[in-house]
Amino acid sequence: MSVYSRLYEGKAKVIYSTEDPEILLADFKDDATAFNAQKRGSIVGKGNINCIISSKLFQELETLGVKTHYIDSPTPNQMRVKAVKIVPTEVVVRNIAAGSLCQQTGLPLGTLLKQPLVEFYYKNDQLGDPLLTRDRLLLLELATPEQVDEITHLALQINQFLINFFQRCDITLVDFKLEFGLDSQQQILLADEISPDTCRLWDTSAVNDPERRVLDKDRFRKDMGNVENAYQEVLNRVLKAVESHN
Ligand code: TMP
Repeated sequence: MSVYSRLYEGKAKVIYSTEDPEILLADFKDDATAFNAQKRGSIVGKGNINCIISSKLFQELETLGVKTHYIDSPTPNQMRVKAVKIVPTEVVVRNIAAGSLCQQTGLPLGTLLKQPLVEFYYKNDQLGDPLLTRDRLLLLELATPEQVDEITHLALQINQFLINFFQRCDITLVDFKLEFGLDSQQQILLADEISPDTCRLWDTSAVNDPERRVLDKDRFRKDMGNVENAYQEVLNRVLKAVESHN
């Protein structure tokens, strides 16, 4: 398939149009940013690793009936996806308190939440991606009430799948971020990626060691070192879990 033009360059991916207007090509980059791109760097091999992990997780989710934008992966760092209009919210699901939840509520890091917490953030870099209330989300007409309900239901279903999947990898799923989009029939599809960039993943066998347990982008955000090794470790475990299941 011939690729036409570069449509959009985000922090972690470049999106290209293809000859089919319903299909886009996502090219995963090694570039890494944090804190609304105030911190910039590169994680060698990240583009390949995140694309492969996301592809595997999207395929597993499809078998459970969760509709995603995934079509196929022509090269290790490229994913062909269905064109969608992204709902401009970042949907965060939390099982264990970490990150901004701790900063904003005072809950101690590592507190087990009695039930998963689903949060919506406004995908707007100029405003710093602020946390939304449901009423603010509706006020801004970012989605309809029915879409908010469906996205919440999907996010919880995806959370349950991911908890179980990562358990098979000896990984504890702390929290993660999802993005959804609408296709040409206004169907809601899971979009973007699910990877160590967008999840907090703790090594279950080192879960009480705040340094060793971190297998995700927090190693980059907090200058903890061994970033590439952590991403590679997640990929190895994901591939093993997928193979052993098939
Ligand atoms: P937070 O605790 O910083 O709000 O992050 C919650 C989860 O969302 C965490 O797994 C990291 C992920 N995340 C992104 O994927 N992109 C972002 O821009 C931010 C701020 C968080």
